[in-house]
Amino acid sequence: MSTLTQLPAWQQLSQCRARLEQQSLRQAFADDPQRAERYTVRAAGLMLDYAKNRIDQPTLDALLALAEQGGLPQLRDAMFAGEAINNTEGRAVLHTALRNRQRDSILVEGENVVPEVRATLAKMKGFVEQIHNGERTGYTGQAFTDVIAIGIGGSFLGPKVATEALRPYAKPLRMHYVANVDGTALAEKLKKVDPATTLVVMSSKSFTTQETLANTESTRDWFLASGASQADVAKHFVAVSSNVPAAVAFGIDADNVFPMWDWVGGRYSLWSAIGLPIALAVGFDHFEQLLAGAEAMDRHFCEAPLEQNMPVLMGLLALWYDNFFDAQSQVILSYDHYLRGLPAYVQQLDMESNGKGVDKEGNPVDYRTGPVIWGGEGTNGQHAYHQLLHQGTALIPADFILPLNSHNPLGRHHNMLAANCLAQAQALMQGKTLEEAKAELAGKGLSETELDTLAKHKVMPGNRPSNTLLMDQLTPATLGALIALYEHRTFVQGALWGINSFDQWGVELGKVLGNAVLAEIEAENPAYQQDSSTNALIACLRKGHI
Ligand code: F6P
Repeated sequence: MSTLTQLPAWQQLSQCRARLEQQSLRQAFADDPQRAERYTVRAAGLMLDYAKNRIDQPTLDALLALAEQGGLPQLRDAMFAGEAINNTEGRAVLHTALRNRQRDSILVEGENVVPEVRATLAKMKGFVEQIHNGERTGYTGQAFTDVIAIGIGGSFLGPKVATEALRPYAKPLRMHYVANVDGTALAEKLKKVDPATTLVVMSSKSFTTQETLANTESTRDWFLASGASQADVAKHFVAVSSNVPAAVAFGIDADNVFPMWDWVGGRYSLWSAIGLPIALAVGFDHFEQLLAGAEAMDRHFCEAPLEQNMPVLMGLLALWYDNFFDAQSQVILSYDHYLRGLPAYVQQLDMESNGKGVDKEGNPVDYRTGPVIWGGEGTNGQHAYHQLLHQGTALIPADFILPLNSHNPLGRHHNMLAANCLAQAQALMQGKTLEEAKAELAGKGLSETELDTLAKHKVMPGNRPSNTLLMDQLTPATLGALIALYEHRTFVQGALWGINSFDQWGVELGKVLGNAVLAEIEAENPAYQQDSSTNALIACLRKGHI
């Protein structure tokens, strides 16, 4: 048995779960007019309404007790202090140091990292300004019009999602993101740009990632094939990496390499020089505001009492459903077109962090860890998968995210969007009873049998939990706070589950096997040393037909 499930608070939560089986959220709202006020917190420009969750005060108290008994405050402080909490890689976890502007000293193994963080930000600022003001040009002397940003995983999704989200702040520079090794992804981007006015930002923390190296090499070939010389590469190609020597060996000019550090996890790295494409897209001042928003959430996470602590509450609620309601997935619903990429971002963040089956000591856990994270953009999803949210057999907790003011106030659109968002959360919570369904159908000329049957299909169980996250407007600062909120929510769950949220060994086997399969696909005389299924599929590939 694990320590977690032995905690007194865990035992209390099991009892709460049994009691809440009978709870109707609809009734809970009717009984307590203060429920919304009681279960709302504000921090760093965000407001979380968590009143539509399957909790009562004793449950919330038990969840907060679990956080204390599970040592959450100490683990959080250890992370911020730079302790090597990523124990399987022996690394500190200090993405928070990248957005810190208050402390002049943060030590990693006795070395103060603040000066190099600030120096890198200064280098980014100078570079971005030179691109924007035309001081730095391509090899023909023309100003840059386009940026191709190459990277994958954490070296891709954060910058891409933030660039999309901050579109209203965009500079006149077209951004193109390429991640997949599928040549089509790159080829389609290259069709749109002119080599003479295209800047290439290659981002790879390790500088060993197959996809990123292949895409950069092919982009360099395309650049050289356009008539540019090898010396011109230095004007057009920059890299971000913690492996500076490898970047230089690859042919990137040493001055054009922006460093990052092994104490920043890939999926937590958009705040580092990995965020260079964001700064190019929206300007360095807005990038700084993004950092400031995240820093405000960091301060809240460190300083607010647990019962008013937004990431703590969200993490505990996610754990509550995962471990006590057997919820196997969680949905993120962005009611803002600019935030359409957030579900994929949180999916990567959460699933790569908490998709672990052993605790920090390597012992299998005997409770569920990370759920499947998925989602999309409202209202589109309402005409698709919301059916399952409302009437399917699975309980899927939802996060609704809504900025109060649109960047594009077009007629009544925003009110309609917002009304849909609120109404979906309400419908999930209150459901529809058989009596209500029958009353709705009465007087429609149906026979009694028809009415009885149809009414059953119209029943909606309700009691389906959700959070609603509001912000005044989607700005660099509120985006920073929102992303940091999800980072810390992920941390809270991983910390209590006792897992290492900061490694990702599970992705390695596929990489190794992928290389072996590639060798067989390309070999003159393949040995066909795989299993029979893989061998047969390799044979198809070699033939080029089935
Ligand atoms: O394969 C997983 C992973 O290592 C991610 O964790 C990382 O963000 C991504 O690949 C890209 O890695 P890199 O930045 O080293 O190219």
